[in-house]
Amino acid sequence: MEVVIKKCRELAGEIAVPSDKSISHRSVILAALADGRSRVENFLRAADTLATVRCIRHLGVEVSGENNGLVIEGKGLHGLSEPGDVLDCRNSGTTMRLLTGVLSAQPFYSVLTGDNSLRSRPMGRVVEPLRQMGARIDGRDDGRKAPLCIRGGGLQGIDYRLPVASAQVKSAVLLAGLGAEGVTILREPSPSRDHTERMLKAMGAVLNRSGNTITLQPGGTLSPLDFEVPGDISSAAYWVVAATLIRGAEILIKGVGVNPTRSGLLAVLKSMGAQIVLENLREVSGEPVADLVVSAARLKGTVVQGDVIPTLIDEIPVLAVAMALAEGDSLVSDARELRVKETDRIAAICHNLRLLGAEVEEREDGFWVRGRNRLLGSTVDSYGDHRIAMAMGIAGMVAEGSTTVTGAEAVDISYPAFWETLRSFW
Ligand code: S3P
Repeated sequence: MEVVIKKCRELAGEIAVPSDKSISHRSVILAALADGRSRVENFLRAADTLATVRCIRHLGVEVSGENNGLVIEGKGLHGLSEPGDVLDCRNSGTTMRLLTGVLSAQPFYSVLTGDNSLRSRPMGRVVEPLRQMGARIDGRDDGRKAPLCIRGGGLQGIDYRLPVASAQVKSAVLLAGLGAEGVTILREPSPSRDHTERMLKAMGAVLNRSGNTITLQPGGTLSPLDFEVPGDISSAAYWVVAATLIRGAEILIKGVGVNPTRSGLLAVLKSMGAQIVLENLREVSGEPVADLVVSAARLKGTVVQGDVIPTLIDEIPVLAVAMALAEGDSLVSDARELRVKETDRIAAICHNLRLLGAEVEEREDGFWVRGRNRLLGSTVDSYGDHRIAMAMGIAGMVAEGSTTVTGAEAVDISYPAFWETLRSFW
């Protein structure tokens, strides 16, 4: 699908954003492992999270509900059943990595696969620690690529130093650790999103953090959840950048999750000069939530590197658009992980920004971009990646003339109504 976008002259009013994708995945996976019925409100209905629901149903868990409310009949830590068929995670890395952890603790045979993109992404990072815990996992390229075949059960806790700051790997090991014998200790190189830890604690798991080390005690059970998913800051990010860049804009986005392990974009944009105010800061289901008020501002170039990277990793494609229109140069480094997302996001960002007239230099672990006062409409591709599609949608709103985004249907992965919302501003 192709979408043609014209330069947007006015952006004002309230914008609703979809529910958080990371938290939605976790809510249904953890609820499946709880003893009894959980209720999840405001669940994200998008391609990735529905892939998780489908897999969970194949494991013998009843999931019902209408609109965005789900009811999940949890089976307990040891109650899942062997699936009768291959589990298809489609495009969703979170589904595959978290379920690899869950299934490693289940005493049956299961196979996880996904689409072309997911089957090319690195799985060794989850397979390695789970094998160390005792799971028997095989897959293409000695278990580095899906399809993955898992024979679980009989796990021992481990003391594991994560080679990359990855919430998916951390969560996979924690989920396996729930069914293991002995303590599981995880050492993160820098903090990644902590939704799994928050939710596990709320469900009664004995889990502690000290610095960058997490300790999970084995045994016990998980209590069911009564949970409300906040708005997704990764989806709000597109409108935050749009409102910053469009002259005279002012928008309100209510109910956005502002967990500090996720909100690095807001801090970086503010340091560049953005006008972002957090109102009505509160806690909902153990997650910090706020209403965001964003108004237009002139941005200055900046350097983004080190520990802040995991807190804004998914927002870098749209941050790159803001950097291209800032005053002065910007640099993103220590972001090598972008190369193994749904597409190679460093290559995709650089290629597309160049097509829009920006001066960009691709680096192995990021990119350098020279700020300028305008982008020029062009034809850019999503590379089948939702975040590239949406970042290019915002670039189209601020570029001169018209911009065509090909592969625009990729937004269905996390934000099915994205183009509809964007069109409402014409
Ligand atoms: C996610 C973690 C991040 C992020 C992804 C969602 C999660 O991936 O990029 O979109 O829900 O745990 P990594 O764990 O690979 O950093």
